[in-house]
Order: sequence, then structure tokens, then C-alpha cells
Amino acid sequence: MMSFRNISMYYFVCVAVHGITLADAATFSIQNNCPYTVWAAAAPGGGRQLDHGQVWDLNVSSGVGGARIWARTGCEFNESGQGKCQTGDCGGLLQCQGYGLPPNTLAEYTLNQFDGMDFFDISLVDGFNVPMEFSPTSGGCNRGIKCTSP
Ligand SMILES: *[C@@H]1O[C@H](CO)[C@@H](O)[C@H](O)[C@H]1NC(C)=O
Ligand SMILES: *[C@@H]1O[C@H](CO)[C@@H](O)[C@H](O)[C@H]1NC(C)=O
Repeated sequence: MMSFRNISMYYFVCVAVHGITLADAATFSIQNNCPYTVWAAAAPGGGRQLDHGQVWDLNVSSGVGGARIWARTGCEFNESGQGKCQTGDCGGLLQCQGYGLPPNTLAEYTLNQFDGMDFFDISLVDGFNVPMEFSPTSGGCNRGIKCTSP
């Protein structure tokens, strides 16, 4: 394994998630700025391979508590989307059905809560695997958060 921490000094933010919320739904734009391939994962949402610079636009419908987006590293999948990842693996599936295994940096969100507000954070409760940024791009809040090291 390479040392991600050394790389992250040069690539300040590795995986960027930008969220646009609508009335009861949201669109997340997940971009891989890492110099290596990651396999983005979302619960709800599934998963997708993202090479350097690639973007996954993900639509989710509202409201789920405990929704999260994370990145997986060192994955290998066969044609049926089954395999394994070194970090963040979700039961060996390319299209995640549930959460990933620690360590993984988590972008968490809950939509349309009290007073119609959305909540988001980056959590290290499951450890750290890649530097992440999570920022809203609508709703009068444009202050994003970053987590670049544990
Ligand atoms: C996501 O939602 C936006 C806005 O409603 C829509 O324009 C876009 O086509 C949707 N994308 C997918 C992949 O469903
Ligand atoms: C993919 O891997 C799974 C789990 O090892 C296996 O059951 C399945 O048959 C494989 N599919 C292909 C197309 O190789």
C-alpha cells in the first residue's frame, strides 16, 4: 500500500462531495481528485468506480437518517460487481447495499429535518482512509467542511 498521507499533502482534498438540496431530494456531485482510483460508495445510492478527475452525480430522495457517502480504495471486482476492497468494503459489492467497513472517512447527511433544515458533517467515527471535502451548494449555506488528515 502507498501512504495516502504523503499524497494528501499535495492533493489537499482528495474526494470532494458537493450537495444541492431540493425540497425533499438532493443531488450530490462526488469528484475524485485523488491521484489514484477510488470506488465511491453511498448508502443509499450504491457505488461506482471513479478514476482521477471523474465525477459521479448521485440523486437521492429525501430524509433518510444516517445516510453516508464514502470512498473505497484498492478494490477489485469481477463482471458481476463482486469482489473486495482494502478500505471501505461493503460486503464485497460494487453497488453497496449498506455501510462500509472501517477505516473510512464518512460524509454524512440528513435531509429535511426540523424546520426543513438539512444537516451534514464529515465523521471519523469509522476511522480515516481518504481526505474528503463536503460542501453544500444551495440553501443559503455555502460553507463547506474538509477533513484532510485524521
Ligand atoms: C438528478 O436530478 C436532476 C434534477 O432533478 C436531474 O436533472 C437529473 O437528470 C437527475 N439525474 C439522474 C442520474 O437521475
Ligand atoms: C464474481 O465473484 C463472485 C464471488 O466470488 C462469484 O460468485 C461470481 O460467480 C463471479 N462472477 C463472475 C462473472 O465471475
